Amino acid sequence: MPSSLSITAATAEPELLDLPWHLPLEQWPSDRIAALPKGLSRHTVRFAHLADHVIAIKETQLELAKREYEMLRKLEKLDVPCVEPFAIISNRHDSEGSPLPAVLITRHLKFSLPYRAMWSQGLRAQTASRLVDALALLLVRLHLAGFFWGDVSLSNTLFRRDAGRFAAYLVDAETGQLYEGRLSNGQRENDLEIARVNIAGELMDLLASGKASDIDPAVISDGIVEKYRGLWKELTAVDVFDASETWRISRRVQRLNELGFDIEELSMVRDETGHTVRIQPKVVDAGHHARRLLLLTGLDVEENQARRLLNDIDQYRLNNSRPGADEEVMAHEWLSTVYEPVVSAIPSEMTGKLEPAEIFHEVLEHRWYMSESKGEDVSLTDAVRSYVADILTSRRDEAAYLGTTAITENITLPEPVPTGVIQVLDDDEEEGDWRDKV
Ligand SMILES: Nc1ncnc2c1ncn2[C@@H]1O[C@H](COP(=O)(O)OP(=O)(O)O)[C@@H](O)[C@H]1O
Ligand SMILES: [Mg+2]
Repeated sequence: MPSSLSITAATAEPELLDLPWHLPLEQWPSDRIAALPKGLSRHTVRFAHLADHVIAIKETQLELAKREYEMLRKLEKLDVPCVEPFAIISNRHDSEGSPLPAVLITRHLKFSLPYRAMWSQGLRAQTASRLVDALALLLVRLHLAGFFWGDVSLSNTLFRRDAGRFAAYLVDAETGQLYEGRLSNGQRENDLEIARVNIAGELMDLLASGKASDIDPAVISDGIVEKYRGLWKELTAVDVFDASETWRISRRVQRLNELGFDIEELSMVRDETGHTVRIQPKVVDAGHHARRLLLLTGLDVEENQARRLLNDIDQYRLNNSRPGADEEVMAHEWLSTVYEPVVSAIPSEMTGKLEPAEIFHEVLEHRWYMSESKGEDVSLTDAVRSYVADILTSRRDEAAYLGTTAITENITLPEPVPTGVIQVLDDDEEEGDWRDKV
């Protein structure tokens, strides 16, 4: 007799036991399966309904499942955007008693899209470079946290809309390794080269299959290197300036804030003569605008959405200023008289199409275009009405979008390159402060 099913889960969900673990994932009945768009994968990955949410199930070896589960937990603790690990199930057997692979379960990242599902009429150049920009930022954040990915690619990333741009989340941590502190120069360069080659390949594949038009894979994949280097320099470089120019410190902080980061720790050194000062951010934390908005309003949204909403709050404060009303009071007033009426004007059958903060951003854009074409200010109420009728109605549902077979099919990829081989560049690590040389 086979031994009993073994479940290790972050939270106890008894419904997990009701899923047909005695069947290979490929053979699960369709009523269990959530037909959502999915990226390319090596393993069998399928989505299933569990109580009121959706889980992603990956069939793999137990050791790999355990490793990835632990890695995702650590990344979550480090506050890096990634999918949430949920459970590992092992000791599966079919009804004849033959063993079945273990599975790693993560929570389906709501409103996320794999890059292949991003544009039904084909991926456009501007969208492709925005995806790559988001991936560059994710890679910088992972590297700052000491994570070497080893398999950076569009397929291993999920994207959420973020006020006209994208926010990237890590979905596949199988090849990753976490180090104490920051990564070496060589490790970072390695990941970047892997990213460049993988992205070029993925985009060439899209072009060849007719799912993208008008994109240059080499230009876009080189774009990740450029974007990454620019960001890394802004976040880590040493600034040297005359001791009389202390305003440069606040300018550096401000520049980082604009990029969406807060400085948690800054090193400041004055040379022996007292003439020059060197500053370098030691610990930076992403989510500058998102944190501020959360504090002011309780809304938990992506970084660019937060930036957009904060701008709207500022505008509201300007238009409605009165003595004694501080920022917090005005932010709450904005929430109940501006933001919430827009969100609640969306018919309930359309709330799965986009996240509320993204709808709000699109309504603001829509109002701007309406006002421009009419040559006069359009009220928010009129803008919402027109947005729902003319735009939102024709959008597909992105919370639970039913993917086409072209998107949900499983395509077998080659085995990953062992990370030990990828790390060849490690040896040329330089001593001293290399960060400002990037
Ligand atoms: N938690 C999740 N939420 C949304 N999509 C997911 C999730 N987990 C996996 N996927 C989808 O499944 C695809 C394959 O998952 P991945 O972990 O990369 O498998 P593999 O290790 O076989 O490459 C991803 O590209 C993504 O589209
Ligand atoms: Mg993968």
